[in-house]
Amino acid sequence: MFARSQLFADLPFLPPAFALRAETASDEAAREALLDAAMGPNRRRKSSEAIRRDRLPAEGLSLVVESDQGELLGTVRLWNVSAGTRAGEDVPALLLGPLAVSARCEGLGIGSALMRRAIAESRWRGHGAIVLVGDAPYYERFGFSAEAAARLSMPGPFERHRLLGLTLRDDVLAGASGLIVPTGRPAEIPSAG
Ligand SMILES: CC(C)(COP(=O)(O)OP(=O)(O)OC[C@H]1O[C@@H](n2cnc3c(N)ncnc32)[C@H](O)[C@@H]1OP(=O)(O)O)[C@@H](O)C(=O)NCCC(=O)NCCS
Repeated sequence: MFARSQLFADLPFLPPAFALRAETASDEAAREALLDAAMGPNRRRKSSEAIRRDRLPAEGLSLVVESDQGELLGTVRLWNVSAGTRAGEDVPALLLGPLAVSARCEGLGIGSALMRRAIAESRWRGHGAIVLVGDAPYYERFGFSAEAAARLSMPGPFERHRLLGLTLRDDVLAGASGLIVPTGRPAEIPSAG
């Protein structure tokens, strides 16, 4: 097990006008507006969205950056999945995304701060691997590679070179193959009767 202080000691600092914190229920409207602006109206058609739909994010893994004026400037969330199977067993992992930063704050390190905190928090919580669909030239700096996810698939159309993986412990993705499927808690528990 990692000591929390070890994992979090080397995270980069954000400029003091920004704070990185856990998302709360009152962030939802601002988060959705930020995602619409950053990714456009087709964002809900992505294969990743099929995995997220009607699920809650992984415990403790919804993060935001806000300004000292209380404006939401960045968001990232991670989701419980099975990253295929290995020797007939599901491979527990996380799907990361969406990650988005307000266009007028790009290049200030907000995306990197969210990524590094998300990875440290995932490791601290004992998760073994993270997968995502995104631009390799951006995510490689955090340790993601297409090789790590080479035998995995998304449930729907995806570009092979954009499906990336990062192992957090025990070579969890080695030998994992097959479909990435959601395993997270349902977003709404149907009422009895
Ligand atoms: C991608 C995104 C999250 C980056 O956030 P950010 O806060 O601007 O990133 P940072 O300031 O931490 O890092 C900036 C660096 O990443 C690089 N970068 C940004 N987007 C990139 C991309 N798609 N591919 C390669 N490099 C990229 C920048 O060139 C810059 O490089 P440098 O450090 O060498 O100057 C942000 O631009 C965004 O929200 N984009 C729209 C939504 C999106 O595409 N999200 C998913 C990404 S696949």
